[in-house]
Amino acid sequence: MRVLLTGGAGFIGSHTALCLLEAGHEIVALDNLSNSSPEALKRVEELTGKKATLVVGDCTVEADVENAFAAFGPFDAVVHFAGFKAVGESVSMPLEYYRNNLDATLVLCKVMEKHGCRSLVFSSSATVYGTNPVMPLREDYPTGCTNPYGWTKWINERILTDYCFASKDMSVVLLRYFNPIGAHESGRIGEDPSGVPNNLMPYICQVASGKLEKLRVFGDDYDTPDGTGVRDFIHVCDLAYGHLKALEYAVSHKGCEVVNLGTGEGYSVLQLLHAFEKVNNMTIPYVVTPRRPGDIATCYADPTKAHTLLGWQASHTLEDMCRDAWNWQKHNPNGYQGDEIK
Ligand code: NAD
Ligand code: UD1
Repeated sequence: MRVLLTGGAGFIGSHTALCLLEAGHEIVALDNLSNSSPEALKRVEELTGKKATLVVGDCTVEADVENAFAAFGPFDAVVHFAGFKAVGESVSMPLEYYRNNLDATLVLCKVMEKHGCRSLVFSSSATVYGTNPVMPLREDYPTGCTNPYGWTKWINERILTDYCFASKDMSVVLLRYFNPIGAHESGRIGEDPSGVPNNLMPYICQVASGKLEKLRVFGDDYDTPDGTGVRDFIHVCDLAYGHLKALEYAVSHKGCEVVNLGTGEGYSVLQLLHAFEKVNNMTIPYVVTPRRPGDIATCYADPTKAHTLLGWQASHTLEDMCRDAWNWQKHNPNGYQGDEIK
């Protein structure tokens, strides 16, 4: 397959690029580098010994997407990662989020149609389950969101479902990711958040490296076994492999499917923290603070459909995730900007 990865220089995109190249496919990334570095794909090339073409362009700009298709197509399929993803920022900048995350999809679909590319895999999120209290979360459960970022995913799912219904030759897989963490085992590509991280694992890694003083555990009074939030953490390489399986499915079927990508296991914030300490042989200072507004107690997937429909299941353990996240952070204390410590 020859696959276009929008947002392919980002965290999940670069790991998926590597996974697809290793499986013998060709990839082209279209990314405006608003939240990523070209260095990620350079390293993917070094790791695989294969070409990972980067086209710098904006998915909301039709001429940029058209250029990618005209100059580097034809593509058998597209994985659409490109989008803004910071929940807090989306609350203060809703218009930017709706514009970027929705325009990108609309423009992409138009150009795909023009070029006869009929298979699409879309990055959705478990955030579309909103405050649904019934666990594990299954794809047919009611949805609803609590912030603009979540609504952009929800509306994108709606748009793509309706588009697929209207275009019978179209194939879409909507992947609802749970909490991707970790990094490639080489330690050469990983998550490179700008500024102070919002998410748990990058924050722990920066405490471990001494850049941040201590972790704030947001609440220990939830209705969970140890009182801290429970999440379905999934290794980014398992997630990347899920895209390969979703692409194989998309190019050989028609219609729209929504699929959870999670492990099906929930671990608490403190369980993750202690697993990190144990596997990396260090102590992470932390303090319990009040709950973070908008957080829910528990969120984990029912991954049955991914297994039955795509033949996919996660294989990495929580310990693998903690080891690989730290291995990346240790060798790249300043992400892709700074020197790599061999
Ligand atoms: P990321 O920010 O590392 O990657 C997104 C990439 O898209 C970046 O490289 C950015 O430069 C690019 N981009 C943004 N807007 C663009 C535009 N208009 N045109 C071209 N490129 C653009 O994020 P990620 O963690 O790799 O997430 C990838 C996708 O998965 C996103 O859509 C995100 O919302 C979704 N997702 C992520 C998570 C997570 O925890 N990381 C969870 C659920 C869903
Ligand atoms: C967040 C997003 C979600 C997105 C997901 C994956 C919010 C509200 N939701 O999910 O839309 O799909 O990331 O990127 O931001 N925690 C701490 N201390 C910290 C950071 C986090 O205790 O410094 C706790 C949180 O309270 C939560 C857990 O760790 O219980 C996981 O948090 P986080 O990594 O931010 O992911 P989510 O909030 O689950």
